Amino acid sequence: MIIEFELNGRTVSREIEPGATLLTVLRDSAQFSVKLGCETGDCGACTVLLDGQPVNSCVVPAGRIQGQMITTLEGLLDDPLMLKLQRALVDCGAVQCGYCSPGMLISLFAHFTHESENLDEDSLRHALTGNLCRCTGM
Ligand code: FES
Ligand code: FES
Repeated sequence: MIIEFELNGRTVSREIEPGATLLTVLRDSAQFSVKLGCETGDCGACTVLLDGQPVNSCVVPAGRIQGQMITTLEGLLDDPLMLKLQRALVDCGAVQCGYCSPGMLISLFAHFTHESENLDEDSLRHALTGNLCRCTGM
């Protein structure tokens, strides 16, 4: 089956195998910020934006993204909000490892994009509840 979708602003088509997930399609498309962690939708290491909303790509069937817009960290590297978020995490000493950071940044990006008023500490903690540090369990 061939699917066509938008990846970081470019229309792409990919041949997918039955049972393929969005995660595998993205890894096969050199989106290496998207990490395979639990593969059960629990850790958030594979978080990307699907039509602007954060999803765990390991549990999204690849067939579902036909005609949809997918954004990965690779597509946001020059985005002013993403640059601000990265700077803020560095300045606060809140840098995680390369495995879980991309998913956390995508979740924060979505939160700051959709929530202009509700940006207190509790809301930020809530925005990150789906992103786990797998090496410490935090
Ligand atoms: S790898 Fe997708 S949520 Fe853990
Ligand atoms: S710091 Fe990234 S998994 Fe623990």
